[in-house]
Amino acid sequence: MYMHPGPNVCVLLQVLMCVYCFRFSCVCIASGPHVCVCVFCSRLVEWHKALSASVKMRVPHSNAFVDLNMDFTAGQSKWNFSKEEILPTEVPRGSVIVGQSSFVDIDGDGHQDHLLPVCLDEACRSSAIYLAGQRNKEWVTLLSDFQQGETKWGLVPGAPGLPLALHLGDYNLDGFPDALVILRNSSSRAQRAFLLENVPCSGSSCPSVGRTFRVHWDQSDMGSIPQAALATFYDIYEDGILDMLVLSRAEGKADFIIHALKNNFEADAYFVKVIVLSGLCSSDCPQKVTPFGVNQPGPYVMYTTVDSNGNLKNASAGQLSQSAHLSLQLPYIVLGLGRSANFLDHLYVGIPRPPGETVSTKFPSGASKWFCASLISSHLCVSLSLSLSLSLCYLRFLLCL
Ligand SMILES: *[C@@H]1O[C@H](CO)[C@@H](O)[C@H](O)[C@H]1NC(C)=O
Ligand SMILES: *[C@@H]1O[C@H](CO)[C@@H](O)[C@H](O)[C@H]1NC(C)=O
Ligand SMILES: *[C@@H]1O[C@H](CO)[C@@H](O)[C@H](O)[C@H]1NC(C)=O
Repeated sequence: MYMHPGPNVCVLLQVLMCVYCFRFSCVCIASGPHVCVCVFCSRLVEWHKALSASVKMRVPHSNAFVDLNMDFTAGQSKWNFSKEEILPTEVPRGSVIVGQSSFVDIDGDGHQDHLLPVCLDEACRSSAIYLAGQRNKEWVTLLSDFQQGETKWGLVPGAPGLPLALHLGDYNLDGFPDALVILRNSSSRAQRAFLLENVPCSGSSCPSVGRTFRVHWDQSDMGSIPQAALATFYDIYEDGILDMLVLSRAEGKADFIIHALKNNFEADAYFVKVIVLSGLCSSDCPQKVTPFGVNQPGPYVMYTTVDSNGNLKNASAGQLSQSAHLSLQLPYIVLGLGRSANFLDHLYVGIPRPPGETVSTKFPSGASKWFCASLISSHLCVSLSLSLSLSLCYLRFLLCL
């Protein structure tokens, strides 16, 4: 809680806050004549043992804090993680080098799917991207064909500081996350960044999810970056369209070179950008600033809308589910809505929470109203920016408890 009233008001507020907070056993901190800071009531500052199973983490690990079972909290609702049989327990058969896991809603059904890039031999000449969804507990092959004409490309095995990973983002705002990956020419060892577009598929070789990745082989701007080492999405212009950052290594130099590529995608697609914030302010917050806090790891966001054919469509995303090993996730969630849908029926935000608390906030759609939903969580703040790329509507509200 942060306030910037006059000195007397401040003292009064402080007393009130302390009395209020006392009920929940918390500490109040005061500082300066015009600033009063009261630490939030009932903040949990204890450590809990969260992992009940005797598991050993892989090095380098690719843990994620993500809601897989759609209970709107990352992990388990008991403030305690337990091993749940919702993912395959073994790595895909035949995999020799296993990359980092990523979690996205690949088919737009509201469930977070598990993506895993693997090499099927030591040199990564043949590689594949596997998927384990909610409904299929088996691995299914999402992409295994990395042949471009005469050239056979493969994933890059990765190094401890730079593991083999996919970086995901919806570059064309169609509601289906796309990926950026580094591939290596298996004859010349030259590395390039490639965009993998998430496209519908049909036919016998199509995975059961009905989606696959199509490699953009002829993307000349990315092809002009030699020895690319890592590629990720980033909204450089803050316009909702995801641009790309590519790191490459120059011959004989240890440091990376950073390249930025503007995404000149110009369809009149809509998107929703959501950031879930802590709403906390530290004691040195500047005056006249509303507490904004920082983006939290683990919130889960899901929307429902109706597509142009009148079918119900869901999609979901997790905010900052991974941060280690250059996972370089966006600090917020960009949900692409495609060309037709310019509204959301519902937007659900799930915030990781202590035991016994239920937080499931439902934001109805609409452009000119302020929506307040009662968050039962005591110290979280939800800021929702609904930005339409046509700049017709910009709605932001901050809800703090
Ligand atoms: C976590 O959950 C497991 C199984 O549900 C239980 O045995 C264990 O005691 C729990 N740990 C804590 C710290 O609550
Ligand atoms: C979308 O989610 C709602 C609520 O969870 C569910 O009832 C509905 O079946 C889902 N629709 C699709 C197309 O997945
Ligand atoms: C891959 O490397 C081979 C051998 O150097 C070369 O002939 C081929 O053109 C390269 N492929 C591409 C797509 O650059």
